[in-house]
Amino acid sequence: MSDRAEMRGPTSRKRRTTISGGGVKQANGSKWHEAAEKPPQCPGKAKPDEVSKHASNNGKVSRETGMSEQQQQQQQQLPHSPKKQRTIVEDLNGRLSCHVLQESLLSSASGYSNYRGILNWCVVMLVLSNARLFLENIIKYGILVDPIQVVSLFLKDPYSWPAACLIIVSNMFILAALYTERRLAVGTISENVGLMLHIFSLTALLIFPSFVVLTVTSMTPVGGVLSLGVYTVLFLKLYSYQDTNRWCREIRQAKAKKLTRSYSCPSVAQSNGSAVHAHVSYPGNLTHRDIYYFVFAPTLCYQLNFPRSSRIRKSFLIRRLFEMLFFMQLLVGLIQQWMVPTIQNSMKPFQEMDFSRMVERLLKLAVPNHLIWLIFFYWFFHSSMNFMAELMQFGDREFYKDWWNSESVTYFWSNWNIPVHKWCLRHFYKPMLKKGVNKLLAQTAVFIASAFFHEYLVSVPLKMFRLWAFMGMMAQVPLAWFVGRFLTGNYGNAAVWISIIIGQPIAVLMYVHDYYVIHYGSTT
Ligand SMILES: CC(C)(COP(=O)(O)OP(=O)(O)OC[C@H]1O[C@@H](n2cnc3c(N)ncnc32)[C@H](O)[C@@H]1OP(=O)(O)O)[C@@H](O)C(=O)NCCC(=O)NCCS
Repeated sequence: MSDRAEMRGPTSRKRRTTISGGGVKQANGSKWHEAAEKPPQCPGKAKPDEVSKHASNNGKVSRETGMSEQQQQQQQQLPHSPKKQRTIVEDLNGRLSCHVLQESLLSSASGYSNYRGILNWCVVMLVLSNARLFLENIIKYGILVDPIQVVSLFLKDPYSWPAACLIIVSNMFILAALYTERRLAVGTISENVGLMLHIFSLTALLIFPSFVVLTVTSMTPVGGVLSLGVYTVLFLKLYSYQDTNRWCREIRQAKAKKLTRSYSCPSVAQSNGSAVHAHVSYPGNLTHRDIYYFVFAPTLCYQLNFPRSSRIRKSFLIRRLFEMLFFMQLLVGLIQQWMVPTIQNSMKPFQEMDFSRMVERLLKLAVPNHLIWLIFFYWFFHSSMNFMAELMQFGDREFYKDWWNSESVTYFWSNWNIPVHKWCLRHFYKPMLKKGVNKLLAQTAVFIASAFFHEYLVSVPLKMFRLWAFMGMMAQVPLAWFVGRFLTGNYGNAAVWISIIIGQPIAVLMYVHDYYVIHYGSTT
């Protein structure tokens, strides 16, 4: 390999290796990849077996081009070994032609795509610029991080724990779902009665906690979000539970009609104490252990036999636990130190409807908001979910996909929150498509349902009905159409990032502004 090739970085060495020895080297000096690329069909092209021919010609060329006497002597003293001779001739050849036919690296025609160094530069710039912002923030506001204040976000009165009580009461709904399914399995209630009981229970699962959050005065907004979040997750899980068990009964009936005896139905009593990893069949799954495993498992979709990992990896578990604790502290610190003062400073321009200042505040808020959202994503979908999954030996760890590469809005929504997406597909979207509903209508219906839950989780705890979250989610439908229709590739990806970075702080500012106005009469 020539010195020039040796001096190049590891990547260029790999991509643009000059082939010595028996390799391909054009007469005009152009170098080509060993196997991946073919040289263009230009007249000066030299075949590999012509290299030796070049070597013999080369001495002549050197003389013709005025080689020094010393060089000529050196050439005369060449050892007669053909291999050594060829190497020296190639060396001379390399000195003669220093240009090769090639594109500049930043030109798209070069096919170059390794921007690892640029990515590192972006990270360094990000850290440096944020370090400046961090210093500026500390100089301006001092240390605002206060762990005691975090406790007050959950509790107004130290002797009243409404959110915790509400979460404990949710067990009632879990047991109601299990007992209803058991009755349905043995046929003591009809399918219609079972359906009515489930509808009643699922409706109560949404109405009851919102009633408590709205009426209990000691409930804080954060406590409200937490308890409503638990109830929403439970709603989705129990919906999936009753749907899956109904499908099992339908299969059982279909098999019974065929008069097969292959479908085993162990009794409920028998399977109550069965081993966790034992394969269960309907209705053997209708046990306390099974339903509680599902309730705590990091999934919203029920199935009779979840894939299980063979053992709990302690080091993996400890790493995830450490991450959970660390990122939790970081989230709280960033919200107190960075988000809260920025939001407070944004209220005046919003009250005065000073448009340019409003945009400036919005962009200022976008940075901490986005950083917090990214940390939240990692904390929740990677650290916390993997921690729960490892603890419960739950095998399916696909909690997110590569949403960061989204080139369309639909790709983003289908890949950033896999548990919700899976639930939407399995229990809502595909059943609608099966019934012959138009695809666009089915997608819109999913987004309406999702918008409802987003609004439910914000409006009820804040005791303020503004529909900003609902509209934000519904805006995804036309946005998805626009991005899909007009933008592709990197432009589509940039549009998705912009919608995430700018869209969220708009909703945050809207809610906080309205909250301040309602509770403090003025934003100043
Ligand atoms: C609406 C939504 C479900 C659409 O998802 P999508 O992946 O774009 O939907 P597609 O039309 O590509 O099809 C998905 C599936 O339906 C199937 N499908 C499509 N058309 C079908 C039809 N006519 N009949 C039967 N199946 C069909 C596809 O084969 C595919 O199946 P697969 O998953 O097994 O491969 C998705 O955008 C979504 O989950 N949105 C809401 C997300 C959300 O609110 N998240 C909240 C996070 S906080």
